[in-house]
Amino acid sequence: MKTWTQALAGLLLAALLQPAWSAPVEDGYDLWLRYRALPAAGQARVMAQARGIVHAQPASPTLQAAVAELKRGVAGLAGREPAALARPADGTLLLVTPASAPAGVDLPWEALGREGYALRSLRLDGRAVTLIAANTDMGLLYGSFAWLRAAQTGADLSRLEQRSAPRVGLRLLNHWDNLDRTVERGYAGASIWDWWKLPDIRDARYVDYARANASLGLNGTVLNNVNAKAESLTRPWLAKAAALAEVLRPYGIKVWLSARFSAPVELGGLKTADPLDPAVRAWWKAKADEIYTLIPDFGGLLVKANSEGQPGPQDYGRDHADGANMLAEALKPHGGLVMWRAFVYSPDASDRAAQGHAEFQPLDGRFADNVIVQVKNGAIDFQPREPFHPLFGAMPRTPLALELQITKEYLGFSTHLVYLGPLFEEVLRADTRAKPEGATVAARVVAMAGVANIGSDRNWCGSHFDCANWYAFGRMAWDPGLASGDVAREWARQTFSSAPRAVDTIATMMTASREMVVDYMTPLGLHHLMGTGHHHGPAPWVDNLERADWNPVYFHRAGRDGIGFDRSPRGSNAVAQYTPDWAARLARPQTTPEAWLLWFHHLPWDHGMASGRTLWAELVAHYDRGVAGVGALRAQWAGLRGDIDARRHAEVAAYLAVQEQEALWWRDACIAYFQSVSGLSLPAGVRPPAQPLEAYKALRFNFAPGRGG
Ligand code: GCU
Repeated sequence: MKTWTQALAGLLLAALLQPAWSAPVEDGYDLWLRYRALPAAGQARVMAQARGIVHAQPASPTLQAAVAELKRGVAGLAGREPAALARPADGTLLLVTPASAPAGVDLPWEALGREGYALRSLRLDGRAVTLIAANTDMGLLYGSFAWLRAAQTGADLSRLEQRSAPRVGLRLLNHWDNLDRTVERGYAGASIWDWWKLPDIRDARYVDYARANASLGLNGTVLNNVNAKAESLTRPWLAKAAALAEVLRPYGIKVWLSARFSAPVELGGLKTADPLDPAVRAWWKAKADEIYTLIPDFGGLLVKANSEGQPGPQDYGRDHADGANMLAEALKPHGGLVMWRAFVYSPDASDRAAQGHAEFQPLDGRFADNVIVQVKNGAIDFQPREPFHPLFGAMPRTPLALELQITKEYLGFSTHLVYLGPLFEEVLRADTRAKPEGATVAARVVAMAGVANIGSDRNWCGSHFDCANWYAFGRMAWDPGLASGDVAREWARQTFSSAPRAVDTIATMMTASREMVVDYMTPLGLHHLMGTGHHHGPAPWVDNLERADWNPVYFHRAGRDGIGFDRSPRGSNAVAQYTPDWAARLARPQTTPEAWLLWFHHLPWDHGMASGRTLWAELVAHYDRGVAGVGALRAQWAGLRGDIDARRHAEVAAYLAVQEQEALWWRDACIAYFQSVSGLSLPAGVRPPAQPLEAYKALRFNFAPGRGG
């Protein structure tokens, strides 16, 4: 039997040796590009295919980035960096373009286009090699990341045959980052752009940001908030943007800026920003010339105009097409684009959901060919669930961008685990039934924009699981046909663990989580019940805001007689904005999908539901289901304690505990409120809210994050 001192000595020795044996501390910084050492068999599998690398010389910065990433990945996964070779040996990665491809190998160059890649295992003069093939160095970078993804997710690297080209040409992040480094609707710390120190100081983190985006195929980033300050277009700020563009360029990421429509007045001293005024047009042309001297590959301008108080062409009696076309004319000689947002609403609209379509649909066909109209996924504002925006089926002659929100403004900020892959999938696959140009939303869009959830937090997104939303946005922008469940598995395996049980559990949790937030916040088509301004927590009772369409009561219209917004022909008739098939279907509660029911209909509390329950009982059941779901997430995660590194396991567990409390808060506050307006008692066996309604109403969150500057 060991003595006490022997035991202590043993412990001390173990502690001393610990650093040599233990894996690096996982703090989330490495995202899905962790490249942690594989078990011995996996190391051998990777090393067998990647002993060496052959590539064209001299290598462009993009090709250098591809080679560096492969070296880093293989060194991490298999313990040894592949050697740079002049000629392929057995087990070589061969990065080739049409100019350097080995003779006799038939590759689908045309189908790969400018950004696509192919991965192919083959024998070359008796040696086993892997071709990473593309028409451009950018394609080679994307292909290198795809090879590393295959290596990290356990694919058979000796038998690769993959081909991939993006289905959507423009794949952008939209940062809502202010010049003072606050982030509107950001829950991950300050802006990652350290504006003050730019352009001289370039944080090493910008390169990791570029690597992460390139690994997903994102090819553009709008640096500043859509609620833009004119200053971002002044020379000193353009120099800062140019410095970022230089860092991001090798990774295929173009820099874009949000523009304030009234900049000619604020910066140029003009009396007007009227888009038809020759002096205004000249000002924007000169500004575009200046931008392109500093940033020759500048992507273009994103504009929020005549929305939520922002200036725009309507201030001068002009319309959105006049405004967008004026900017398009200035950018055109440089190959620049205008992304003009369709997120508009004004105080006098009788139905806020109808305004975007009402303002934009009549302009179909009037936009210049370098204008893209950027449409949010739904007609209100990034709710846990919205029907797809009717504009996707209504503007056949206008290129459209789909705008999704990656940051979770209305979905529990960064503390709630909500995987957005299923939400993205739902909207991308929504069938607009428009003819003849292709029916789904995915088929209709030429660009996808995701409102970023990235900040200065060490783990980038404020929570480990929120990085899955960045990941899913990028992967699904490249290929909108991907199934969100597969994307979840891929992410989980690269981010957390390759143990099948862990991957299965995490992917199951993720896939179920989106419906949970719908259930505990806004079931059955309810929307915008969140707290005033900050959008944190439930506040369905709010009815005193300056504008009707800012009040939750405007959206749910609950009273003695029932609940829901009547957008049928008997109400606002917003259903008529959909294609005829949908309009007919949505006109009647019986043919409206239950998940959207109260979005389109005002119904009595005793309305019969598919389950056989009354609407009221169904609503309560959804709230209960949502809360129970989060309880299940906690239990599932607790069961993975041995599979996940301690720090990240504990951090996620702590967040899930907060989420369960807040889900319960949502349920209790909403049920208490709806009871108060309906006068109904709870269905049998249902637990009453923990506190009286007044207690929920009294809560205040004056310093909630994400309000911006
Ligand atoms: C929402 C959000 C705002 C944002 C706006 C937009 O209303 O709350 O912070 O500016 O969307 O998309 O322009």
